[in-house]
Amino acid sequence: MTRPIIALDFATPQEVQGFLRNFSQQLYVKVGMEYYLQNGPDVIRSLKEQGHSIFLDLKLHDIPTTVHKAMKGLAGLGVDMVNVHAAGGIEMMRAAKEGLIEGSSSEVPKLIAVTQLTSTTELQMQQDQLIQSSLLESVLHYASCAHKASLDGVVCSVHESTMLREKLGSEFYKVTPGIRLAGGEQHDQKRVATPADAKTLGSTHIVVGRAITASSDPVAAYHQIKQEWSRSV
Ligand code: C5P
Repeated sequence: MTRPIIALDFATPQEVQGFLRNFSQQLYVKVGMEYYLQNGPDVIRSLKEQGHSIFLDLKLHDIPTTVHKAMKGLAGLGVDMVNVHAAGGIEMMRAAKEGLIEGSSSEVPKLIAVTQLTSTTELQMQQDQLIQSSLLESVLHYASCAHKASLDGVVCSVHESTMLREKLGSEFYKVTPGIRLAGGEQHDQKRVATPADAKTLGSTHIVVGRAITASSDPVAAYHQIKQEWSRSV
């Protein structure tokens, strides 16, 4: 059972360390662009030294050679999971995977793809990207491309997990943000789900930010989410 992945959406190492000091155990954390791009690779080294597992959420999307080289470097940091945009194409995703393999001295980081961002509506996708299918069909298409490129899974909404489990199997990662405890504050997320819903609907990993980081008792919130996520079938 994978632990809930806590989104460290903070700007400074002081804020991150202040938050982590609440916890006595090692965690699985997500470092995104906000924190990484302002503070650099040292933040990863520091989290590794503290024994935390790390999903580095940089959503790379560039030509295959560039992504290959970037992934080779990121693998050297010893992160556990990284991602790309599936819109970069199968060749780019394969190059990303090869870069990770070349840059890893031990276990190769898991590689997942962003399909359609959960902030994108069907209308925006059709107008901005000129994709005329439904949002669900586009997500499935991108996920199938990621599967074909031998990636480990995708980032998707909880509400897409069931379809992806049916089409691509339960081993293929469905890493899902937008998690809230029942009755909790939704913030800017449009479609939220509880940890129990996520498990039932086929998510393999949950990413949780503000339900923990903005809680008045982050440790209690974390344990409640972890328990609900572990208990559900
Ligand atoms: O605070 P909250 O739980 O909404 O944070 C969710 C985290 O997951 C944030 O770091 C957000 O950037 C990320 N995320 C998301 N939707 C996506 C991809 C990533 O909410 N489609």
